[in-house]
Amino acid sequence: MDTRRIFSPATVANVSCGFDAIAFALEALGDEMTFRKNESGEVRITRIEGAELPLEVDKNAAGVVAQRMLTAANASFGVDIEIQKKYKPGSGLGSSAASSAGAAFAVNQMLGEPYEPTQLVKFSMLGEEAACGSQIADNVAGAIFGGFVLVRSYHPLELVSIPTPSELFAVVVHPQIEVKTEDARRVLPKQIPVKHAVAQWANVGGLISGLYSGDYDLIGRSLVDVVAEPFRKEFIPHFDLVKEQAIASGALGAGISGSGPSIFALVKGRSQAEKVAKAMEAVYLENPVDHKIYISKIANRGVRII
Ligand code: HSE
Repeated sequence: MDTRRIFSPATVANVSCGFDAIAFALEALGDEMTFRKNESGEVRITRIEGAELPLEVDKNAAGVVAQRMLTAANASFGVDIEIQKKYKPGSGLGSSAASSAGAAFAVNQMLGEPYEPTQLVKFSMLGEEAACGSQIADNVAGAIFGGFVLVRSYHPLELVSIPTPSELFAVVVHPQIEVKTEDARRVLPKQIPVKHAVAQWANVGGLISGLYSGDYDLIGRSLVDVVAEPFRKEFIPHFDLVKEQAIASGALGAGISGSGPSIFALVKGRSQAEKVAKAMEAVYLENPVDHKIYISKIANRGVRII
């Protein structure tokens, strides 16, 4: 088969306490991409819908990943790539990661699946570097593996899938402004006080324990971020109010999705998630901010053929 059409999920990275180390994939949102083998031996981005992104292969996250994989495998064919973006880049929902992971998955299939998922994440990290200047693993790991993923180590890369309690839902509000990941990383302190580090790793332990045991309240209490959120929330209109309203209306907890500006909340049960979504959205209706809102299950799988 010379064509692959795939869905690559949007992802929520950091999950408050796990900066650069935890992410989960969304079931209800992601990009669609089509890959076709070509005889030219080259990677070509033939079409991008839904966003203004570079068509030059070496500047496009999917292009960079596909090129590196074909070169590494000494492939005799090239690939044409079509990308349908379903949400804007600079959203904090792993837009470049969805493209990178989608390319890694599809090209691996075309090569006869020589690479393991962790190797696909490594290739995808090259796409992240092209898009935002850093080889960050969290979003791409979420997109490749699905569910919750922990980046236990970067060198060597070690990824751990974490179970998702069955009634866990995510609500995501995406104010329609762009925050570049580079900018959101630049405002972070180079060093943090030990007491903040203690709070952060204790919450990571709490979150992982809560996910394993299905202790929803523990999950909620662990969604605390003293490392990035205090510095990044300034980029996000009415962040404190949206978060407050999410929790007041029954969310387990809420925080910045990845590097923002999207705000996520975790909620137990769909009907509660609908209430939380209404309360979060009300803030942007009362203080007009153009936005999109999503209610989603946590995806139990990553990139997939459609
Ligand atoms: N963990 C990364 C960050 C995700 O927060 O900068 C980038 O979307």
